[in-house]
Amino acid sequence: MAGPLGSVTEPGSKIYAVKRHYGYQPKDPVTEKLLPLKMGIYFSTGNLPLAIEEGVKAVGWAYNGYTFQATERIMGLFHEVSPSDDALQCAQCHAGGTRMDFAALGYTPKSTYNDKPLCASCHRDKTNYWTGTERFYKIHEKHVADKKYDCSVCHTFSKAS
Ligand code: HEC
Ligand code: HEC
Ligand code: HEC
Repeated sequence: MAGPLGSVTEPGSKIYAVKRHYGYQPKDPVTEKLLPLKMGIYFSTGNLPLAIEEGVKAVGWAYNGYTFQATERIMGLFHEVSPSDDALQCAQCHAGGTRMDFAALGYTPKSTYNDKPLCASCHRDKTNYWTGTERFYKIHEKHVADKKYDCSVCHTFSKAS
């Protein structure tokens, strides 16, 4: 029913925490439209047929009965957020962390810049100068924070914001 749009190459895109929500929704057997239901009636009486019929009437549609449709939507997580003590640590996403599939999101660095191997394009090849878990942080600290390079020097995108 609803899902995220955007990508790493689209200006303004941001990554949000989401949950995948599965449900069964009433559907008009004639028009195939999903039907609104009056949640107040449903929650207070449990009378689903009445809640659907009243919901349909409230939006001014003809009532043709209902069947059910399996539905799926991706919802942003903007409430019930955990306290800051539970915040993720850097390494849960970066430097081997498995929280985010950075390759699938398009963050794999380019292999060349100016038609030369990426790291050797600007200076002596320092590919293995930093290794292990520090590599990611140090490369970005030096070139992004310190030297103010745009992401597009080493990736296929520019900074989104
Ligand atoms: C929930 C996962 C997550 C956590 C936790 C996280 N990051 Fe990131 N980080 C990202 C994503 C996604 C990007 C790409 C952002 C973009 O495209 O602008 C990123 C980008 C970066 C970059 C490269 C961009 C730049 O501006 O230099 C650095 C460096 C970085 N993070 C450091 C950190 C540090 C340090 C921490 C801990 C304090 C941390 N991250 C925690 C997901 C995370
Ligand atoms: C000097 C080149 C360079 C620049 C500039 C650069 N990156 Fe990277 N980036 C890399 C390399 C190299 C890697 C792979 C790191 C590794 O092998 O550990 C990487 C990996 C990443 C990852 C994957 C992180 C992970 O933990 O696997 C993210 C996210 C990222 N970069 C975001 C950014 C963003 C956002 C910018 C711009 C603000 C940026 N980078 C600018 C070279 C660069
Ligand atoms: C667009 C040009 C450019 C690219 C591409 C680039 N660098 Fe650099 N790098 C620089 C500049 C500029 C400096 C700063 C030189 C200085 O401070 O003397 C630097 C500095 C460094 C240093 C020295 C830092 C120190 O503190 O001694 C290392 C190591 C390094 N880069 C590694 C890499 C690696 C690894 C890559 C490939 C992922 C890379 N660079 C890609 C421009 C680049």
